[in-house]
Amino acid sequence: MNNNYNRRQFLQTSALALAAAAFPKALLANMGMGAAKSVATPSFKPDVEIEINAIKTAVSILSGEKTNVYKYESKLLKGLPETLQSLGDNYLGSRLNLQQGQKVRVFLHNQLGEPNILHWHGLHVPQSSDGHPMYAIDSGETYVYEFEVVNPAGTSFYHSHTHSFTARHVYKGLAGMITVTDANEKKLDLPHGEYDLPLVIQDRSFDENNQLVYVHNMHERMLGFLGTTILVNGKPNKEFEVKSRAYRFRTLNGSNSRIYKLAWDDGTPLVAIGTDGHLLETPETKPYIMLAPGERVDLWLDFSGRKVGSTLVMYSLPYQGLMPAMMKMQQGRGRGRMGMRGGMGMGAMGMMSSGGLEQGAKFPIARFKVTEKVSDSPKLPQHLSTIKRFTDASVDNANNPIPIGLAMGHMQPTINGRSFAMDRVETSEKVALGSHKKIRIFHEHAEGGMGMGMMGGMHMAHPIHLHGQQYQVVSRKTTHVNPEDYATVSEGFLDKGWKDTVLVVPGEEVEIIKPFEDYAGLFLYHCHNLEHEDLGMMRQFYIS
Ligand code: C2O
Ligand code: CU
Ligand code: CU
Repeated sequence: MNNNYNRRQFLQTSALALAAAAFPKALLANMGMGAAKSVATPSFKPDVEIEINAIKTAVSILSGEKTNVYKYESKLLKGLPETLQSLGDNYLGSRLNLQQGQKVRVFLHNQLGEPNILHWHGLHVPQSSDGHPMYAIDSGETYVYEFEVVNPAGTSFYHSHTHSFTARHVYKGLAGMITVTDANEKKLDLPHGEYDLPLVIQDRSFDENNQLVYVHNMHERMLGFLGTTILVNGKPNKEFEVKSRAYRFRTLNGSNSRIYKLAWDDGTPLVAIGTDGHLLETPETKPYIMLAPGERVDLWLDFSGRKVGSTLVMYSLPYQGLMPAMMKMQQGRGRGRMGMRGGMGMGAMGMMSSGGLEQGAKFPIARFKVTEKVSDSPKLPQHLSTIKRFTDASVDNANNPIPIGLAMGHMQPTINGRSFAMDRVETSEKVALGSHKKIRIFHEHAEGGMGMGMMGGMHMAHPIHLHGQQYQVVSRKTTHVNPEDYATVSEGFLDKGWKDTVLVVPGEEVEIIKPFEDYAGLFLYHCHNLEHEDLGMMRQFYIS
């Protein structure tokens, strides 16, 4: 790609779109080359200043040969030393620890030899700092982000958002964790320092030389990449050495398409204290938690009372029904798990691509070994934050929700029947700045028969992410689920807190209420199955 390819293409196609009156004129003006920031704004006085280099490097993942990866390698130019917490010899970027109210400037230097742009998933920032793919920079270029941290305390995620490159970029390593803290959280005295740890879960496949292997064909892309090796914080067979006390594990599904059903091996329930970018109002106890790509859950893991030497294993438990039903048909109806180890051919859909670790398989994620007895532990606060619940009275479109219709067309996952186009916004995607909207997320063509046709048969779970402010789930309805399958996942949704990514499984319809405040411009929404996103299962809102 040559210099400024994306921006130039954007401007050209915008001109075309404008001729067709499909695109607001003000937007184009608003969007001139000046909007892509390559120099710092002198009047913006940052509290935190960071340089991030997108580089190619090699790290140790498996024993033996190093693995070639891409990495966001960062350097603190200004700010408290704890702002950046390196994960060491790792493809994951440093954990970025921010505080509400801070002004942040980031220089992204692209040294990858291909286009790149970085997005702060979960942070509510202006359009020009949101990593919209129209801002992708070429190798050798710099992009300057400037924003204020307006989010409250919570866990978020930065990753490449370079359209049609995103899945491969994230797979090769271009991601990291963000934490935000605020005055409310500090008062709660939650586990901090060495007791506040990241738990980034990803899956990868390696060849015999320890090099990453990505999808092979279109069928794999349609389903989403599933790796054979589970990595936690960039390492396989992860074991945490813990003391007999409570910890906060900031759990992030950084996988391209794998959905985890988190649970303890001994049946102890899980306690969640936060979801996407926010603390919950009160802790939630669950037998298991479903965590889809892009979602976060802050877990309160309490090892109090456990013996030194004892080990607890976190598993992803088996579940059914999140992959297209036609595969299940081929597999035969009944109680079997998705996919097979036995080598039964999956023909058309290339099911064997996951090399035995199918979507919904059971496998260990990480081990926690108690290595030291301590006598005191923080108490789980019963009130964590205050959440004002949205109702129909909060929105101006209660009876006319914005549709997000999900479908798997022929080799093309779509939203409302459309694919992503940088320069396109439909009427239903134009939203007044400051408004709150009800949005209905559903599977299209759901009523169309018994799941035998291409459309019906291709229903699968989609984690739907909206940029900008977090939203609330106001209803999750089952319109035509298979009860047997649904029972394997239905207790695992954390819908009471703030969300920016919500898993919508086959046969479900989810309604959310989202505020569109503070920043005008183009804000993406898309499936966070990254293969789907790159295949165009992405659209944008134009807020004005
Ligand atoms: Cu985590 Cu638009 O992405
Ligand atoms: Cu995002
Ligand atoms: Cu999807």
